[in-house]
Amino acid sequence: MRSGYSRILVSAALLGLLLVTTMSSSIANPPNDQRTIEQRVVELLADMTLAEKIGQMNQVNASDEDMPHHLQEAIKAGRVGSILNQVNVDTVNELQRIAVEESRLGIPLLVGRDVIHGFKTVMPIPLGQAATWNPDIVRAGAQVAAREAATTGINWTFAPMIDISRDPRWGRIAESLGEDPYLASELAVAMVEGFQGDDLTDAGTIAATAKHFAGYGASESGRDYATVNIPENELRNVYFPPFKAAVDAGVVSLMAAFSDLDGVPATGNRFLMRDVLRDEWNFSGFVVSDWDSVRQLAIHGLTANDKESVYEAVTAGVDMEMAGQSYVDHLEALVDEGRIDVAMIDAMVANILRAKFRLGLFENPYTDPKALPPIANEHALETARKAALQSAVLLKNDHGVLPLSAKKLNSVAVIGPLADAPYEQLGTWIFDGDRELSITPMHAIHSLVGHNVDVRYLRAMDNSRSRASKAFDEAAEMARGSDAVLLFLGEESILSGEAHSRADINLPGDQAELVRRIREAGKPVIAVILAGRPLTLTNIVDRVDAILFAWHPGTMGGPAIADLLFGIESPSGKLPVTFPRMVGQIPIYYSQKRTGKPPSPDTVVLIDDIDAHAPQLSTGMTAYHLDAGYTPLFPFAYGLSYAEFDYQRIRASAREIRPGDTIRISAELTNKGDVAADEIVQLYIRDLVGNVTRPVRELKGFKRLRLEPGQTVTVDFDLHTDDLAFAGRDMQLMTEPGEFHAWIGGSSETELRTEFRIIDSD
Ligand code: NOJ
Repeated sequence: MRSGYSRILVSAALLGLLLVTTMSSSIANPPNDQRTIEQRVVELLADMTLAEKIGQMNQVNASDEDMPHHLQEAIKAGRVGSILNQVNVDTVNELQRIAVEESRLGIPLLVGRDVIHGFKTVMPIPLGQAATWNPDIVRAGAQVAAREAATTGINWTFAPMIDISRDPRWGRIAESLGEDPYLASELAVAMVEGFQGDDLTDAGTIAATAKHFAGYGASESGRDYATVNIPENELRNVYFPPFKAAVDAGVVSLMAAFSDLDGVPATGNRFLMRDVLRDEWNFSGFVVSDWDSVRQLAIHGLTANDKESVYEAVTAGVDMEMAGQSYVDHLEALVDEGRIDVAMIDAMVANILRAKFRLGLFENPYTDPKALPPIANEHALETARKAALQSAVLLKNDHGVLPLSAKKLNSVAVIGPLADAPYEQLGTWIFDGDRELSITPMHAIHSLVGHNVDVRYLRAMDNSRSRASKAFDEAAEMARGSDAVLLFLGEESILSGEAHSRADINLPGDQAELVRRIREAGKPVIAVILAGRPLTLTNIVDRVDAILFAWHPGTMGGPAIADLLFGIESPSGKLPVTFPRMVGQIPIYYSQKRTGKPPSPDTVVLIDDIDAHAPQLSTGMTAYHLDAGYTPLFPFAYGLSYAEFDYQRIRASAREIRPGDTIRISAELTNKGDVAADEIVQLYIRDLVGNVTRPVRELKGFKRLRLEPGQTVTVDFDLHTDDLAFAGRDMQLMTEPGEFHAWIGGSSETELRTEFRIIDSD
């Protein structure tokens, strides 16, 4: 539910009434202060000059280690509402002191930082966290991050990043929660709750930012910052839902995207920020630009100069400018010229002040790190370990080669550039991540089984991009002399993240050749892949016996991976994004539309099957690629286990329901294996006929359940007809009467299906 702060329009009459009580000294709430946040916002605004209001809309980079004099002066003059990138608590406290004690109105600062998947203790990259399908662990990870970050005075993070992304070339897919609106929405809410807690005035909570509004994940060819074109219907059905969910969960801020959306860059896009965010969703928090993205409106070619960019961004609804300073330079003139009404500025500043009140900064602007739990404490490390454990996805396990048995092995070869790379396993966006805390897989395997297994290690390549194969003979030799090979492959952290897109998403460098050489040794080969994105593994998949995809697993990646390899725990992660066979299939995602010519196994003639002597003029005439077919290498929500899960007896609680009803879809799940393990049970639906065409499947529910060997449980999902709504041709949400299919299972390709129908109420 929404947190209930309604939007404010500053009326002169109300201001007049409240002015009497407004003095700068009255800003701090006395203990028995009964005023609401809205009253305090109105009172404060009434006392502010235009320059002070614009100051609140200005966020300044404060990354310099020593505090520049001009920054202190600007804060004192009320020209700065927020700083970012300062993480020395003494410096932050001093800047807060200047704001609170030396500026005329004593308004505290928002202190921002990219705390994306951990602070010192690093959780798996967000895409890895999404592979846990576990809101509880995602929430716990964000809470750990918030508490650690708060020790430095940070009170606002630029996370979660909830751009739906269906393009693994895009480097920022690592920061995302994957391809699916439902999964991303559930996890977005968990992250917001983890950062913000129940009450933002509590120590160790920080404000969250849902970013980047909107569509950034659909940049052309996955090239970061590139153009985005998304029809409104798809925006509403695919890209908006995680933002709507975050807004409903009370997220304090949203960040506008860098990208151009349908010809209007997001930072200047009124449809996004005024029509949808404010008017439709009643968002009462504030919107921050991305780094200098206001001035970039001119570089995009939307405006001719910075002043016009300020006009577009402000009228579009960007309340605060990050790093660019152009609001400070031009906004006053725009108001003086009558082009921007001061009431608009008031409402925007109110959005920012409201956040400062919600955070309790007026009462408590300073940070005492000792009042917070110590960094990297046992709980933090255990949360990181559990998240890494649940995020790894077992993609292949021929003949049950995994788990390895420490009792049966005499020796194991640990080979590859990512087996012992403490920094690389942390992934992208770890400004503050402490590599000293990392436990690498190599070290963890040693500690777990080193006492009775001879663990040998060879890096074999300087890094994943290396083309020097001089160590490959030695690697093959080591493989030949060992009972099994653990090959740690993938990408370093630098290969994903902002501005780190790739056009080729094969394993970089000569890694595929390393696999080939190791394969020749004839020993079981287990590939463990650490990466920031899905990779096209087509050229190695048949040359290894098992693949464990571990993403960039964070601080505790090593112990988690070791436990999975040696069967202390069963893998339980499921892919939050589809893995293509080859890059030309992109975008490929499970919830595609059916098309007028849907492909099927009978219609597919692949390029190698075209008769060389009598070429067929027409192949299957359906929607597939001659050289790739139409299926991915690994589908969305796929992931193997050491247990064997069997789904049976799906049923719907009714054949027919009416609008407003809830239907229960259930199935029986049995663990037929001989180990206890978690399974992620998923519910999908298809709306067979729609006012706009509907995807072939849509995720509508999931549950992570632990089952003992032999245990059977009935899994229920309750679906309200509102859960089946989508934006129709007129862009309004609608649930249409008609036929639905529902599936329950362990991946997006489950075949266990039932049907039901929504009938008209009359
Ligand atoms: C640019 C990125 O797009 C955004 O996600 C980030 O929060 C800001 N820079 C601040 O570092």
